[in-house]
Amino acid sequence: MIIADNNEFYRRVLGDFFREEGFEVRVASDGIEALEMIKQRRPDLLLLDLIMPRLDGARLSAFLKGQEAFRDIPIIILSGILADEIDGVEEIRADAYIAKMPLEQIQDTLKDVARKLVDGLRDVRPILSGFEKMYRREVVLELLEERRSAQVTLDSLSEGIVEVSQDRRVLVANRAMERITGQPASAMIALPLDELFPESRPVLKGLFEDVGRGQHVAAGVIRQGGRELQIKLHRLEPDAPHPTEGSDADDAACASLGPGSGVRQAVRRAARTTSKVRLDAAAQCIGYTLLVEDITERVKAEREREQLRSRLAQSEKMSAIGLFVAGAAHELNNPLTSVLGYAQLLLQGEKGHEVRKELEKIAAGASRCKKILENLMAFARSNRPAKVAVDFNALLMESLGGYGDRLRDAGIELSLELATDLPATLADPLQILQAFNSIVDNAHKAMTGFPGRRLLSVASKVSGSRIVIEIGDTGPGIPHESLGKIFEPFFTTRQVGQGAGLGLSVAYGMVTAHAGRVGVRNQANGGAIVTLEFPIIARDETAPAAAAPRAGEVSRAAPAERRILIVDDEAIVQELLVDILERDALRIDTASNGLEGLRRIGEKDYDLIILDLRMPDMTGQQMYEELARSRPEMLGRLLFITADTVTPEVDHFLKSVGSPCLTKPFAVDMVMQRVESILSHARV
Ligand SMILES: Nc1ncnc2c1ncn2[C@@H]1O[C@H](COP(=O)(O)OP(=O)(O)OP(=O)(O)O)[C@@H](O)[C@H]1O
Ligand SMILES: [Mg+2]
Repeated sequence: MIIADNNEFYRRVLGDFFREEGFEVRVASDGIEALEMIKQRRPDLLLLDLIMPRLDGARLSAFLKGQEAFRDIPIIILSGILADEIDGVEEIRADAYIAKMPLEQIQDTLKDVARKLVDGLRDVRPILSGFEKMYRREVVLELLEERRSAQVTLDSLSEGIVEVSQDRRVLVANRAMERITGQPASAMIALPLDELFPESRPVLKGLFEDVGRGQHVAAGVIRQGGRELQIKLHRLEPDAPHPTEGSDADDAACASLGPGSGVRQAVRRAARTTSKVRLDAAAQCIGYTLLVEDITERVKAEREREQLRSRLAQSEKMSAIGLFVAGAAHELNNPLTSVLGYAQLLLQGEKGHEVRKELEKIAAGASRCKKILENLMAFARSNRPAKVAVDFNALLMESLGGYGDRLRDAGIELSLELATDLPATLADPLQILQAFNSIVDNAHKAMTGFPGRRLLSVASKVSGSRIVIEIGDTGPGIPHESLGKIFEPFFTTRQVGQGAGLGLSVAYGMVTAHAGRVGVRNQANGGAIVTLEFPIIARDETAPAAAAPRAGEVSRAAPAERRILIVDDEAIVQELLVDILERDALRIDTASNGLEGLRRIGEKDYDLIILDLRMPDMTGQQMYEELARSRPEMLGRLLFITADTVTPEVDHFLKSVGSPCLTKPFAVDMVMQRVESILSHARV
């Protein structure tokens, strides 16, 4: 047989007793252990204590009786309270229930019942024995035991549980509650609940009002000591009064047995008299329980996930806009190049005053478009940042210096908090300065005329492996609905002519080209603050050494004989370049793709090859690779033209070859300058 009891004394006494009776006895200290033993070797008899930790006798019995393989094992339940007081004796389905009393008083019963059951003499009705003689002390002990096991359960929960009296004082608090409040349970007893959560009195008051209006549960979130706690307040109501309830508790000892007997009620009454919360059937509410869950980490994680989600969505949106902008800029570039180029060319000749004026207007309009296109391409990260060691503090000071007068005129004070240990990092100083300027310009505009103290706060610091710059203002801040759009090109809230909506998009493009991040939020004081983050790069590990010009290998050519090959698929660009360069008495050939270009190079020697990167059939890059293989001496005579360098491949390619490059749309004098520079090398 197996005896399962959490009380070691009972295990030993009962074990010895049954061994003397000729049983082979195994003992277990709870239901789980007993179940393991049963699975190992099936016993002929099970003696279970009703109340045990983990798995109690009632549930183990119910489980075994529901299993085909174990159904036939006879089960005796030993209990200090009558088994049918525990809900559902029908489900427990033990074969016998024997009241727990000093052994000498029940040993005969135990022996008889055990023998009967082992011999298979079972009745359909369970055997009940000894309850009429049950000691009150045993009942109390058993209830205490039950309470202790309930406490074990409560303490094992991660949620805090507090039992609260009608007048809102703490009666019981579990272990989790000690962790949450930082107080031992003993110190919480009798404390008004308000004092347990002093920061959240109004919320608690609201919850009590909710349950006071008849609601059974009320829930809310409170803050306490920097933690966020979700609380649920339950109202405890008395059970419906039992028909026979009301007689004296001492009846328990003499009540008769049988289905629906008075013992059930008697034991129930006994239980009530030991319980902290006394039932008062007349009262509507007998107290409360409060369930407290620390959701600080969950809320934090959720918030972080939300931020990550919106950052991802934002960066996806920005890169989609970037692609669109880069494509549009590319398409506009060629026609604009010819408008600007021809306007400038025409201006170089002899013209009448009127014509000149009109040409100047065309050139000025085209220049403005060029500026916008440049900004758009900067947003689309098409301008490769240079890499030189840069002191960000110095750049901030330079930017603020440039705005000095304007800030002063607008009554703006300056607060500087620059880290003294800011390391130099590789970056493009012009781009960084432009980004700073855009942000300072916005802050200046936001505060100009805005009431109250006007303060521009600029701070720099090192955070991990990044440099963090913060530029904050005391202007009106940015409306919530605009926050997600301010980096988009052309988003502006300014009057026509006051702003193009390109400042922040250019800053965005430049910062991201530096593998940095830029974000804007509103501060508690209402103003906006822009945060820029840049990785600290000590030296350039990516760019290979630039190809040195191979001037020495280039054959000398008399100035008049200098030949240029233009390889570009866009006829309009080809023509413009021819028109620009022919004036300088240079001899020019053209090709509209890489293959044709190579054929021409095979036929003639050129001093300069102007090479577009994006072309059908053979791209500029492929042509470069072919030349590197077959005519390496030509590599020093290349001048690339590109509409943009948005794709990382092109960007990487240009960095790796180190040849000069013209970005479309180009100004006439810029073309001449580059061409001269290469030809002068060739003449050495
Ligand atoms: N510090 C700030 N305070 C309040 N609003 C701002 C601030 N910075 C930017 N904004 C808002 O963001 C919009 C976009 O700014 P952005 O710099 O890109 O363009 P812009 O200033 O309107 O024009 P541009 O910079 O091309 O002259 C602004 O029109 C403004 O509404
Ligand atoms: Mg701006």
